[in-house]
Amino acid sequence: MVGSTRALKAIPKDVLERLWTGKETRLTLRHLYALGKHADKAQTMNSKPFRIPAEFLCSELPIRYGHMLSVLHGHPLARSSPSITRVIDRYFQDAHKLTSLSIPSCEDEAQEFTQTLRTLRRRQCGSLLRLRHGLLTENLGNESAQKPLHTFLDQCNGLGVGVNLLIGEHLCLNDKGHNLVQLINPTQVAQSAIIEARKYCADIHQVSPPQVQLVCKDDNLSTTYVPAHLHRVLFELLTNSLTATIKHGETSPVRLTLVKGEEDVTIRLSDRGGGICAREVHKAWRYHINPKHDALMEHDEDDAQVEMDVKRGLRFARLLARYFGGDLALISMEGYGTDTFLALSRDDAVTENYPLTQPMTSSFMKEAFV
Ligand SMILES: Nc1ncnc2c1ncn2[C@@H]1O[C@H](COP(=O)(O)OP(=O)(O)OP(=O)(O)O)[C@@H](O)[C@H]1O
Ligand SMILES: [Mg+2]
Repeated sequence: MVGSTRALKAIPKDVLERLWTGKETRLTLRHLYALGKHADKAQTMNSKPFRIPAEFLCSELPIRYGHMLSVLHGHPLARSSPSITRVIDRYFQDAHKLTSLSIPSCEDEAQEFTQTLRTLRRRQCGSLLRLRHGLLTENLGNESAQKPLHTFLDQCNGLGVGVNLLIGEHLCLNDKGHNLVQLINPTQVAQSAIIEARKYCADIHQVSPPQVQLVCKDDNLSTTYVPAHLHRVLFELLTNSLTATIKHGETSPVRLTLVKGEEDVTIRLSDRGGGICAREVHKAWRYHINPKHDALMEHDEDDAQVEMDVKRGLRFARLLARYFGGDLALISMEGYGTDTFLALSRDDAVTENYPLTQPMTSSFMKEAFV
């Protein structure tokens, strides 16, 4: 904890206090959509670029990093688990960087600001994967530890999704000139996820993957959503269905149906990949160890490598689906196949599914760090 103590002492006391006790501003898809539009307008009017989002980010991100530290520190194994102490250390360093970030007032500063956020996003991605990989490895075979461990990982990953969303919105506007949150046609997102998932499975399994039939009766299907989130969830579901179908020796196509309801857009994915037996279904909803990430635990600077690796599995897909009021469910018929149901809420006023945290008290802080 040497690094974190040093980073902590460098943060002014009042800033530190705000970090622990600050209340997050929970956003809706509508907020994010409007925020981006505002920045678009500011750009076309030739005023300072990204002024509003930068101000918001400078006040909001430190609060969310504070919550992440509070959750990590509140874990009973915070002092004894090497993975948690290491990630706390990294988050402290990042929180320190964030608290010294100021609102850019010229183009050079704006670029530096964006670069810092890019680095923070990459580091967070590496931190969360290290936490997951490390904790799962440390608790391998400890069945009774799995439930609380997964709840804890969900909480950290949920906070991570929120931070990624805020940074991602800024980077998307900066790099691509449009919002991260958009009015999307889910069918188009599904089409690109199908292409990518089939390519991924062809590479992994070295066979020509089954076809995917896309069924949607509504040509003008639309909803406000984060296309990157939907793409990611569908990619996970499709790779699972295609993989199961291939492994089961089936050739029948996987069927993806999209339906627009009053409240939801529902997407069903049906495969004939042999299903999962009832006794094993709970395991499908667990985070799992990816041996590719073993090397990460040795090095501290391979964040770029993990950022490129988009695979996060079914449980993470459900977390993303639930972030804006949606859900993900799976019904399996052992010996036949699996139906996966993804619901996206069409209500753009639903707030972020922000994981509740207990703000850190000063006495706890004192005891923990000083
Ligand atoms: N459609 C499906 N048919 C059969 N089994 C499935 C299906 N979807 C998920 N599973 C089971 O659930 C497990 C967990 O899925 P998950 O996507 O989290 O991990 P993975 O597919 O094994 O690895 P990764 O997605 O990280 O490459 C799978 O290994 C598989 O056993
Ligand atoms: Mg998978």
